[in-house]
Parts: sequence; C-alpha cells; structure tokens
Amino acid sequence: MIVKDYTEMSKLAADAVVGLLESKPAAVLGLATGSTPIGLYEELVQRYHHGLDFSQVTTFNLDEYYGLASDHPTSYHYYMQQHLFQYLNIPATSINIPNGATPEPAGECRSYEAKIAKVGGIDLQVLGIGTNGHIGFNEPGTPFGNTTSLVNLAPATIEANSRFFERREDVPRQALSMGIRSIMNCRRIVLLANGENKANAIAAAVEGPISETLPASVLQLHPDCTFILDQAAAKNLTHSRG
Ligand code: F6R
Repeated sequence: MIVKDYTEMSKLAADAVVGLLESKPAAVLGLATGSTPIGLYEELVQRYHHGLDFSQVTTFNLDEYYGLASDHPTSYHYYMQQHLFQYLNIPATSINIPNGATPEPAGECRSYEAKIAKVGGIDLQVLGIGTNGHIGFNEPGTPFGNTTSLVNLAPATIEANSRFFERREDVPRQALSMGIRSIMNCRRIVLLANGENKANAIAAAVEGPISETLPASVLQLHPDCTFILDQAAAKNLTHSRG
C-alpha cells in the first residue's frame, strides 16, 4: 500500500495492530526499533488512551545490539521503554527482547526461539528495512534458513545507525537478531518504509529477484505480508499498487 506520508503510514500500521487485538486480545506482537516505527508507537499510545487494552499481549522484539546492557541509552531495550512500553499496560513478564549483555549468545538465541514457540508463534510482525535491504539485522548474504543468531552488522548499517551514537566507534559491530526463518514463520507481516533513502531497497525487495543478497526479497514468498510505504519510499516501484 502506498500512502500520502509518514503519518498515514503510521496510522495504517496502528490499524493493523488494533484489528488484530480486537479479534485476539492475547495476541503476540513482533516489534521493530529504529526511526520508522516511532509514529506507529505514538499512535498505539494514543489508542491505548482511548481504551485499547494491551494487558494480555505478549511482545517479541526483532533484535538487540550485542554487548549493550538493557539500561544503555542506545540499547533497544531502552528505546522500547522510551517509545512504547512505559506508556502501555503490557505486563513486564510478557515483554521479550534478546539480552544483548548475555555472556552466552548461542544459548540466549536458542532460548529466544523456544520462547516464541512456547507462546504459539508471532501473530503480527512489524518490520522496517535497511537501505541495504536488511530485515531485523539480517544483512545481505544471511542464509534464509537462519533462526535467531549472533550476527555481524554491515558497514552500511553501522554508518546508518551511528546517528544514534555519540561517535561512530561506539556503534556495536554485532547484534542478536531473529533470523529470516523466524520472521517468515510469523503469521502476518507488516513492513513499513518511508523516505527516499529506502526507495532502492523497496524496489529491489518487491520487484527484484528473490535472493539472499537482498534479504527483504524473501518476503515475496510470505503468504500474508503487506508493505506500507510513503510516496518517497515507493518512488522506484514500476508497478505501483495503491
Ligand atoms: C530494527 C531493525 C532494523 C530497522 C532498519 C531500518 O529493529 O531490525 O531492520 O528496521 O534498520 O531502520 P530505520 O527505521 O531507523 O530506518
């Protein structure tokens, strides 16, 4: 879907979450961080104030920087608290984010997958997309069969995310990320993208060949995946779908 602007994109994404919670109050939500979903989270907070109940919801975040403690101001734990969780009534025990401070990343990744399986899988996964086509922190070249893993960040990702850190050297080089397979197992996916810097990645993901060199292209194989794009992010699509 191509919408007018960032506000419309965020509202439409919030509508998808509301629709799910109306039919399934104990839904499992998959969440992303970064700049893109901030408007969605603001919308969800508004809707919570208007009566939307999150008390039975369980959440799983896509990823966390490896080596950052949860109270570090650039950690994704901190981000989620700041932008969403502090405002909603999701029980703390129902919130799941990979522990980036773990001394045992392989065990942490295995237990993360086990927790997702235990609640019956993710109903709705929200995704952003990197300028290099990554989803989660699955960088170009990541095997489609991967589940949650310790991954290396691509130079383009370190560069893009350095805006959140004081110095480029401070950006962690690794992360714990749900894998492509973990993402493809989600029952429904909503990918959000806004801005011209995403236009090439979006065109390649939607209209290009399905290839591990462009991780988001795998979504062409998902049975229930919606892209919600602003005009700028959609501008390189040859077959625009309203
Ligand atoms: C975030 C994530 C990443 C971002 C992507 C886009 O949890 O997994 O894939 O969605 O890097 O980031 P922004 O939205 O900052 O452009």
